[in-house]
Amino acid sequence: MDTKRMISGIKPSGHLTLGNYIGALQNFVKYQDDYEMFVFIANLHTITVPQDPSELRNNLEEAALLYLAAGLNPQKATIFLQSDVLEHTQLGHILACYSYLGELNRMTQYKDKVAKGETNHTVGFYTYPTLMAADILLYDAHFVPVGIDQKQHVELTRDIAERMNNRYNKELFLIPEPLLEEVGVKIYDLQEPTKKMSKSDISDKGCIYLMDTPKKARKKIMSAVTDSLDKIAYDPINQPGISNLIVIAASLKKVSIEAILLETQDLRYGEFKKYVADIVVDTLETIQNKYAEIKEQNILQEVLVDGANKARTIANKKLKEVQRTIGIEL
Ligand code: TYM
Repeated sequence: MDTKRMISGIKPSGHLTLGNYIGALQNFVKYQDDYEMFVFIANLHTITVPQDPSELRNNLEEAALLYLAAGLNPQKATIFLQSDVLEHTQLGHILACYSYLGELNRMTQYKDKVAKGETNHTVGFYTYPTLMAADILLYDAHFVPVGIDQKQHVELTRDIAERMNNRYNKELFLIPEPLLEEVGVKIYDLQEPTKKMSKSDISDKGCIYLMDTPKKARKKIMSAVTDSLDKIAYDPINQPGISNLIVIAASLKKVSIEAILLETQDLRYGEFKKYVADIVVDTLETIQNKYAEIKEQNILQEVLVDGANKARTIANKKLKEVQRTIGIEL
């Protein structure tokens, strides 16, 4: 049987978070053994909102090192910087010409900004989902491992691909599927446990970054918002804070929610938070130790150049096929 292909990316518009790790990075690592894995750093997506150049460069480097530190192996996975493979923007433009304003208007991230009364979004922010569709369709990927907030974008990608396949009456693109884990598709803010943990938050008290010191991370967990029910139960509606901590523990330990409940049911909230903090700190320490080692080895440039070369070969073939099919190339 042919190995199935996966593609995904993370946008380093800030420091990578525990949400990025649980919802995405940890799964990329898990799947690299059984799938042909393409993982990129979505740097072109970061500039859809204003960025400080030197901070952005630092975040890019940090993200790439974190990919490796989390366990992505360049011998198994193709790791690259999105902007190194020019085919992404070229196909992005083509797909924008096969997408409708109505579709982009329905994208939640855009709608949220509009609902908040924000009117100063850039054209790049608006067309971001069509670039993301290009990221995926260039590689004929079967699966796109993502957190729940990106599912809608993968669905749009499917719609555009199906539209073009029908229009040209051939299987120009493979129709990709979003791949969502059973547990951990949305990690919530520790201070506001009904809101997604996000790297773009202004206050970082509710957000754990992968490069947070263990002390800082522990403090954030220990001050996570809970409730007054005083029982460890998985009940996202009535106990969102506790439920979020249960999901974090289960995802990082790679066990079920039930297994965590069994282990922690008799703990008081303070003890339970310490239990979760130990798991989180252990994860961060492992990643951070590896990070320091990899940084020392100075291999990043080589990994990214090799990855881009491999990715470009595939992306270019697909782009040529698309261009011939739609008639813009002889
Ligand atoms: P980004 O950078 O916002 O998030 C990267 C990945 O992390 C997941 N994620 C979370 N999962 C669980 N809980 C959270 N709190 C949490 N926060 C983030 C996201 O769902 C995502 O899987 N547009 C994408 C990047 C991208 C991409 C692509 C992804 C560009 N092109 C092609 C897949 C395929 C983004 O901004 O993700």
